[in-house]
Amino acid sequence: MGNGVSRYAAWRERADAIEREGLKRTLRALVPVGQTRAALPGGRVCDLFSSNDYLGLAEHPAIRAAMASGGAGAARLISGNRRGHDALEDALGAWMGRPVTLFGSGYLANLAVFTALFGAGDHVVSDALNHASIIDGLRLSRCARSVMPHGSVGVPAGATAIAVEGLYSMDGDFAPVVELAAAPGAPLLVVDEAHAVGCIGPGGKGVAALAGVTPDVVVGTLGKAFGAAGAFVAGPPEVREVLVSSARPFIYTTGLPEGVALAALAGLRLATDARRERLAAQVQRLRAGLRQVGVDAGGVAHIVPIRTGPNTMALAAALLERGFLVGGVRYPTVARGDERLRVTVSAEHTDEQVDRLVEALAVVTVDPNVRSAG
Ligand SMILES: Cc1ncc(COP(=O)(O)O)c(C=O)c1O
Repeated sequence: MGNGVSRYAAWRERADAIEREGLKRTLRALVPVGQTRAALPGGRVCDLFSSNDYLGLAEHPAIRAAMASGGAGAARLISGNRRGHDALEDALGAWMGRPVTLFGSGYLANLAVFTALFGAGDHVVSDALNHASIIDGLRLSRCARSVMPHGSVGVPAGATAIAVEGLYSMDGDFAPVVELAAAPGAPLLVVDEAHAVGCIGPGGKGVAALAGVTPDVVVGTLGKAFGAAGAFVAGPPEVREVLVSSARPFIYTTGLPEGVALAALAGLRLATDARRERLAAQVQRLRAGLRQVGVDAGGVAHIVPIRTGPNTMALAAALLERGFLVGGVRYPTVARGDERLRVTVSAEHTDEQVDRLVEALAVVTVDPNVRSAG
């Protein structure tokens, strides 16, 4: 601007304010080393306990090989539908026992579910800890919405639908799906199984399947346990019909690259009971180890939150110095005062990796220098 004020002054101020509040986020370039390790810039190799690659598939040779195809070039409804998309939808549909529709990501799948399947006249009740993509989908929808306390089963009268996560991404606990499925007035039940599919329940079908519940709509992701990218929505045939013909995140976006769809298909086939058992065994080892050294962990499955208070980033840095990459989670991803380390377990972690992480956590969580660094 001619008056000497930068054209981008407002954005500079916004970026500076984020930094002043201690909320600046930075990207780190990692080079995978096998399934559970990564080289940091400078070459040091660390153990990864921060990935959602729960079954250790993202670097599997079959997934890497499947990725080798071109882009879709257009939305699937234009000229971007490939045989790989159909093959993946057929395989996911056979696995879930219901028609499935693919999306570019879990974020887009949730935008689609809440904007296309609900509207004026609906009242959707959402768990307080639901993922940002559910919150944003509900904000974009014309439905009435209300938030219920995390884990609550007290669904308000008149609700037409309930939205929960099967396994909560930051707290690692399960939604009370049995009680919710029996809520008075029989509201529709939408369960986002992003972190559970592939890992939990019979055949890895998720938390609801584990509890013997068939939600009306299930959202699953393909970029976490299945090692690829993308997501799917499963439900009755009407759900697919509505999504394909009216969901904006389906219609107005380029189809997944075919290689990604084929990689997800490979991931689905590689997600065996044997891998799930290995994951469960390492989860048990980590949780038992933490109990033994007196580190308090939340949740029940492969997402293991350790509440830290505001020094969570200092703790994550101290762990990194000891060779472990663990995510520090802070506001706005979680509420202020509820900061935590988010440890995630992989079926490919060795006993030794898990044991060494437990030792490191036992040290850093009581280190007075780290504790005072918040
Ligand atoms: C519960 C939940 N739903 C949806 C998503 C979004 O999935 P994606 O990473 O495929 O966009 C996430 C991402 O972590 C999530 O935790």
